[in-house]
Amino acid sequence: MEAKYVHIITMGCQMNVYDSEQMERLLAPMNYVPTAKLGKADLILVNTCSIRQKAEHKMYSLLGRLTRAKSRKPELIVGVGGCVAQQEGYRLLKRAPHVDIVFGTFSLRRLPKLVQQVAEQGGRLVDVDETPTDEPTCLKPSVSQEKRVTAFVTIMTGCDNFCTYCVVPHVRGRQASRRSEIVVEEIGYLVNKGVREVTLLGQNVNAYGLDNRRGCDFSALLEAVDQIEGLDRIRFTTSHPKDLSARLIKAFGRLDKLAAHIHLPVQSGSDRILKRMNRGYTRDYYFEKVEELRRICPDIAVTSDIIVGFPGEQDTDFEDTLDLVTSIRFDNLFTFKYSERLNTSASRFSNKVPETTKSNRFARLLETQTRITLEKNLSLVETVQDVLVEGSSKKNNDQLTGRTPCNRAVNFPDGTARVGEIVPVKIIEAFLHSLRGRPLEAHTQRAQREGGILHAA
Ligand code: SAH
Ligand code: SF4
Ligand code: F3S
Repeated sequence: MEAKYVHIITMGCQMNVYDSEQMERLLAPMNYVPTAKLGKADLILVNTCSIRQKAEHKMYSLLGRLTRAKSRKPELIVGVGGCVAQQEGYRLLKRAPHVDIVFGTFSLRRLPKLVQQVAEQGGRLVDVDETPTDEPTCLKPSVSQEKRVTAFVTIMTGCDNFCTYCVVPHVRGRQASRRSEIVVEEIGYLVNKGVREVTLLGQNVNAYGLDNRRGCDFSALLEAVDQIEGLDRIRFTTSHPKDLSARLIKAFGRLDKLAAHIHLPVQSGSDRILKRMNRGYTRDYYFEKVEELRRICPDIAVTSDIIVGFPGEQDTDFEDTLDLVTSIRFDNLFTFKYSERLNTSASRFSNKVPETTKSNRFARLLETQTRITLEKNLSLVETVQDVLVEGSSKKNNDQLTGRTPCNRAVNFPDGTARVGEIVPVKIIEAFLHSLRGRPLEAHTQRAQREGGILHAA
């Protein structure tokens, strides 16, 4: 069969990255080969995100640009999947006349059939049916996954938390955990292909297994993944503070492969706002959890997400958030202006915060965190960090790049280190978004290990 080409454009979170890789995997038996060149494609798939209005706008302007590709090549098939597709369904088909297929978050595995039908019979199709298809037994990695030393693996889909601002439970459905044996088997395949680090994905990984009483919980899953031979590092995201168990915190002291980093979104430092957000914890509780984590694992990097300008947020609430940020001193922070989303309860809340106030708060928060991130990065200068080499640096080809356990990107000169190896690197300079280092010579490493001073070079 003659090869055809698929070009996939992924927007949104890591879960979409994983789903796009599944699309590649699912289309491979139909002879679709992934291509980075849009002009070469017979099939273009856009995997969309609706977490904030900006993401949705970005998608519509991208779709606008695809009109030209379609008019140049009328037999081209254009499919739109993911969270906006699930949310909009037929409305999207109406709004974008050059789109042939709209497939939602539940219909990923039905994609090959949808593509086949359009290729053979023409027409335009929508599948936003909320019934999932069974998990396939074939777990071979996709072409993109085979090329990397790090991989994402989704361990659960959906979310039951209904934070009042969030669209995810509306577009991804109820929480459903994948069976632990399948997750472990899938990671095993990836490791055989050269993957050294895996990031386990879910909207609330701490609740893994709680929807399925026969299965294990998240700590037990981590323990099983830790046993996989050939795997060097485990990360996970996202962790919801309300379900962060003592056993999981202890895992940071116990499991060798678990990287010293936790992304623990707090969203706000005000108890009043946390309640209106339906987050299920208080500010004091959050402080306690971070303290416990740092007690068990003093080097742990803690990162977070914060929304400013949630309906009803007053100056005093925002000051509480700033106070939390300066007290906790996150290693990094993702900050967002509240964006009203379809069908969410907060979209019906009164006391909306004006855009200018949101922007001012956003700027103050960013300024505060920028200073802290830089200080934290500077504190790593002169330390030696174990860096998993991921490849050449994008900016400078004779530099290698990789990440520390605490998730900092480190660039260093290309010497004897190979992609996929973990090498000790002495940090010599720190910037806001990366570090610069020098790999230690092999004999130095050994001498330092024997002297037991590896991290004090
Ligand atoms: N499941 C994760 C969050 C996934 S969404 C968790 O609960 O931690 C990623 C981040 O986007 C959220 O943590 C939140 O900070 C932000 N976000 C979600 N909905 C938003 C909205 N309506 N407006 C602005 N930011 C939002
Ligand atoms: Fe959204 Fe809350 Fe679920 Fe995270 S836990 S995906 S913020 S509803
Ligand atoms: Fe966006 Fe959907 Fe992820 S809304 S953040 S792509 S779950």
